[in-house]
Amino acid sequence: MRMKGKSGRGSGSKKGSGSALDHSGGQRELNVRLKTARSRTPSSQRWLERQLNDPYVAAAKRAGFRSRAAYKLIEIDDKYRFLKPGGRVVDLGAAPGGWSQIAAERVQSIAGRGQVIAIDILDMEPLAGVVSTTLDFMEDGAETWLKDKLRDGAADVVLSDMAASTVGHTKTDHLRIMMLAEAAAHFAGDVLAPGGAFLCKVFQGGTERDLLDFLKQRFAIVRHVKPPASRSGSAELYVLATGFKGRA
Ligand SMILES: C[S@@+](CC[C@H](N)C(=O)[O-])C[C@H]1O[C@@H](n2cnc3c(N)ncnc32)[C@H](O)[C@@H]1O
Repeated sequence: MRMKGKSGRGSGSKKGSGSALDHSGGQRELNVRLKTARSRTPSSQRWLERQLNDPYVAAAKRAGFRSRAAYKLIEIDDKYRFLKPGGRVVDLGAAPGGWSQIAAERVQSIAGRGQVIAIDILDMEPLAGVVSTTLDFMEDGAETWLKDKLRDGAADVVLSDMAASTVGHTKTDHLRIMMLAEAAAHFAGDVLAPGGAFLCKVFQGGTERDLLDFLKQRFAIVRHVKPPASRSGSAELYVLATGFKGRA
């Protein structure tokens, strides 16, 4: 896996390097064990230990990325190269901002070439080169807000890492994430310029047939991707559709 500079491409890195991780399988082993604390539930204890032992969390901190998720986008884009200088990017479910940081660097929005327009239900600290707002994507008006911000009203890339908070009931969680994915896909079908790309979080266990059919009709290539930074034990998966054929 190629990883040059801070995020594998471009310049302007503040500190750190995306090459902190060896993607050939030689991730640095960390082995922090925590004493159990009465105030922690077993699941929060497991979560904390996983965070402390996660080389991506450590690398993201060193590199100044807002989330370990930044590495997922780095790894996917290093392989498929859809974030290009000058590109217009929409980032749905952007907080805390890891993906937006990578997108801003790769499309060179800080230099005024590309654009990154980001929304999330949660507040997000401002980021250089990113126009963001606090907004529920499912609300009326969200799509119009995004389109109004885009140069010529169109995007070259739509990213969606949106995930509703899980309730622990697998079927319900799956349905909620697929609803967001479908809404994001329809928006992509409406806003992308020909040749554009759509990257979206889905769940293992299958992208719904309807969603896949919708994407296959509109894009030249549709593939599932599971970047190394996506925890192997998690059901998380991404669908990447490239070569948008234009509005139907
Ligand atoms: C996994 S996080 C995104 C992490 C982000 N890609 C990063 O690199 O920092 C998922 C985000 O989706 C957001 N989200 C969930 N439902 C949403 C909705 N309907 N509209 C906007 N954002 C939403 C959540 O608030 C959460 O911040």
